[in-house]
Amino acid sequence: MRIVSGIQPTGNLHLGNYLGAIRNWVRMQDDMPGEKLYFLADLHAITVHNDPAELTANTREMAAALMAAGIDPDKAILFNQARVPAHAELAWLLFCTARIGWLNRMTQFKEKSGKNREGASVGLYAYPVLQAADVLLYQTSHVPVGDDQKQHLELARDIATKFNLDTGTETFTLPEPTIPPTAARIMSLRDGTAKMSKSDPSDASRINLIDDPDTIMAKIRKAKTDPEPLPSEAAGLEGRAEAANLVSIYAAMADESVDQVLARFAGQGFGAFKPALGELLVETLRPIATRFAELKADPAAIDAALEAGAARAAALAKPTLDAAYAALGLCR
Ligand code: TYM
Repeated sequence: MRIVSGIQPTGNLHLGNYLGAIRNWVRMQDDMPGEKLYFLADLHAITVHNDPAELTANTREMAAALMAAGIDPDKAILFNQARVPAHAELAWLLFCTARIGWLNRMTQFKEKSGKNREGASVGLYAYPVLQAADVLLYQTSHVPVGDDQKQHLELARDIATKFNLDTGTETFTLPEPTIPPTAARIMSLRDGTAKMSKSDPSDASRINLIDDPDTIMAKIRKAKTDPEPLPSEAAGLEGRAEAANLVSIYAAMADESVDQVLARFAGQGFGAFKPALGELLVETLRPIATRFAELKADPAAIDAALEAGAARAAALAKPTLDAAYAALGLCR
């Protein structure tokens, strides 16, 4: 068993990241056998407009946020991609395996490039191939992610299969995505059809893990809803995207099913539900925000943790990178 996952060090860790992925990172770190590698995808972050000073600061901050959320550098290998050159090296080899037709189907590129496709960076287009390298480099068995990363992981499996076939080797293991059954996709608080995202210009659309209690309460109070009371079963939330999102956030935070939450709130309006949800969020996130502030105050300790994590990751990556070069007949 080998667990690998990454997060872009852009902006803050938000509730979508936490419930969709990071909480699973922590649970798998604590409960599963084998190595766990968690990294900051700084090489992915430069595929769109990059401010160098901000990237450096964000990389440290995101590392602190992950540790505050429960990632323990003694139990998991925590590092940033740029410190492990094998990611970029393997990506080049895989560019020659991936097909243009496969990348043309990637929905995230279409969303991120928008109307300006011709002006997008080659890196943004090739992004999923670097992501495949991130995972294939470590003979990964499980990749804990939110639902939006599923297509990229299917591509990683296609690339691994083709590389193995083309070279007549078993160089790569096929990774499985681990997607949480609830909270696989947390939606924006302002629009129940858009996913909660760091790139949404409105901060009111997301709960950041380091928001203070007043901010959390205010964001939940202002979250878009509808005038209907809550139903008694999940089926009654159909066609009510915003209501369904808030209930599923509650369920995920409380570690309950949607039906269990509805059994408690059935017939009540959002006037009663929202304060309960706000308080649950405040109480659950408070220790994370406190720990984050402590960790952030010591950037040298963060750098040392990332440096040590990178050395361990590089050692684990080496055999697979060597095997990939050899499978292609490259002399080094
Ligand atoms: P990123 O940085 O956008 O998000 C990090 C993780 O958070 C999950 N996530 C969500 N889950 C539920 N609801 C949401 N609204 C939501 N928003 C984000 C994402 O699914 C992800 O698991 N390409 C990746 C980073 C990456 C990676 C990898 C992941 C690079 N290489 C290798 C796994 C394996 C990304 O941009 O995630």
